[in-house]
Amino acid sequence: MSEVFRFGISLPKDLIDKFDKLIEKKNYTNRSKAFGDLIRQELIKREWREGKEVAGSITLIYDHHKRELLNKITDVQHGFQKVIISTQHIHLDHNNCLEIIAVKGNPPDVQKLTNTLKAIKGVKHGTLSMSTTGKGMT
Ligand code: NI
Repeated sequence: MSEVFRFGISLPKDLIDKFDKLIEKKNYTNRSKAFGDLIRQELIKREWREGKEVAGSITLIYDHHKRELLNKITDVQHGFQKVIISTQHIHLDHNNCLEIIAVKGNPPDVQKLTNTLKAIKGVKHGTLSMSTTGKGMT
């Protein structure tokens, strides 16, 4: 665990008031954790822009009845084995499937996989949750 360093920050009062209201809604119990999370979020954004290894998940919603679509989604995933850790398929209802693809690897490869899957005709929604491997993050 990293050493804790205490420091003061000067900010306009109305900005802090807004921040306090915001973090209260998000269930933070103190400002330190909320500030720390904001900083981590920026560091993670940088990892996705400039880093070598990131982690996250791709979520897809698609129509189960379109058979060719299922094959296409599977084919694409076979081409990206080096970044896919695991895939979970959930039958949402009679028509719709939810697929969660856990990813870890090079950011451009993960982005390319996401974009390729989203662009497949019949995929109703696709989103990428950009997270971190946790290495170097305290
Ligand atoms: Ni299904």
